Amino acid sequence: MKLRHDMLTHGVNIVCAQYKEKKGGLAVAWATQIDTDYILICVGSQSYTRELILNSKAFGLSVLAKEQTGVAKIFGSSTSHKTDKFKEISFHTAKTGSPLLDSCVAAFDCEVEIVHDHNDTKLIIGKIVSAEFLGKDYAPLVYREEDY
Ligand SMILES: Cc1cc2nc3c(=O)[nH]c(=O)nc-3n(C[C@H](O)[C@H](O)[C@H](O)COP(=O)(O)O)c2cc1C
Repeated sequence: MKLRHDMLTHGVNIVCAQYKEKKGGLAVAWATQIDTDYILICVGSQSYTRELILNSKAFGLSVLAKEQTGVAKIFGSSTSHKTDKFKEISFHTAKTGSPLLDSCVAAFDCEVEIVHDHNDTKLIIGKIVSAEFLGKDYAPLVYREEDY
C-alpha cells in the first residue's frame, strides 16, 4: 500500500523564526502539542527556516483557519532564503522575537528545549511561553495532500 502524507489527520500551521535581521517561515503539517506546555514540530533539511529556529532557539507557530490554504501555499512552496514571504502577510513579533501571523485561529510563541535528529528531519520541541487564541470559532485547516 502506498503511504500518503495525510493518512493521519493533521492541521496546517505556519512556523516562523527570526535570527538577526533574517525572517523565515514554512508550512508545517507535522506538529503536535505535547502535554499542555510543549509543541513538537518536525522540520526537514530542505527548510531554510530550520536554521533560523536552531540559531534563535525559538519559533512561533500560527494555526491556519480552514479558508487559509493560500497562506499555506505561500509558506510551503518556496524558500525564505530567496523569497520574502512576509511581504503579503500581516504579522507581529512575539516575545521570543519570532513572527506570529495576525490572522489565524491560534498562535504560540515557543522557546526551543530539545532537538532530536531523525534521518534528515529534526524533531524540535519548544516550550510554550505564550499563546494567543484568535479565532472566534475554532475552524482549523486540515491537511489534504491534493490541496498542494
Ligand atoms: C501544507 C504543507 C505542509 C508541510 N508540512 C511540512 C512539515 O511538517 N515539515 C517540513 O519540513 N516541511 C513541510 N512542508 C514543506 C515546507 O513548508 C517547504 O519545504 C517550505 O518551502 C520550506 O520553506 P523555508 O525554506 O522557507 O523554511 C509542508 C508544505 C505544505 C504545503
